[in-house]
Amino acid sequence: MALVTLVEVEKTLTDDESIRECLQQNGIEYERWIIARGIDADSTADEILNAYSAEIDELKTRGGYVTADVIDVSPQTPGLDEMLAKFNREHWHDEDEVRFVISGHGLFHINGATGVLAIEVEAGDLIRVPRGTKHWFNLCSDRRIRAIRLFQEKSGWTPQYTDSDIDRKHEPVCLGTTYLPQVAGHR
Ligand SMILES: [Fe+2]
Repeated sequence: MALVTLVEVEKTLTDDESIRECLQQNGIEYERWIIARGIDADSTADEILNAYSAEIDELKTRGGYVTADVIDVSPQTPGLDEMLAKFNREHWHDEDEVRFVISGHGLFHINGATGVLAIEVEAGDLIRVPRGTKHWFNLCSDRRIRAIRLFQEKSGWTPQYTDSDIDRKHEPVCLGTTYLPQVAGHR
């Protein structure tokens, strides 16, 4: 399940209902999908796309997407820092940013209707950031994410920068599995 933090008030939402309500208020579509049987870190892009073909077709119909691919980012990815520098500044796109996470982690910041949200995604999370939404993206400490992407038209996905510098005011912090609400008497 994604972790959502209301950055300005430093409040992390941990229950399903508040997370979904908050994302809805900010126009972010969110779903949990079950990781397909037989899909693991070694699966090829084609195996992943085949395993989710029914879900991808349904999303294409719903959102007008025409193509899907698999992005695979790891510490070994050539030019990783240059690639990340394109997306860790506030920007928007002419089309939706749709990601279904197969493995790894990522941190979306959304400059939304209720303020700045940090959405930490993990395997099984489907997120749709609608076109025109101001956002930025960072990896977490594993520096790894594998995700299905959907496009209405690949050229529309070029980042349009706001140059607001708001991204510099918010340290990208991933809480991950280290974030567990304290329960008395348990470790
Ligand atoms: Fe983006």
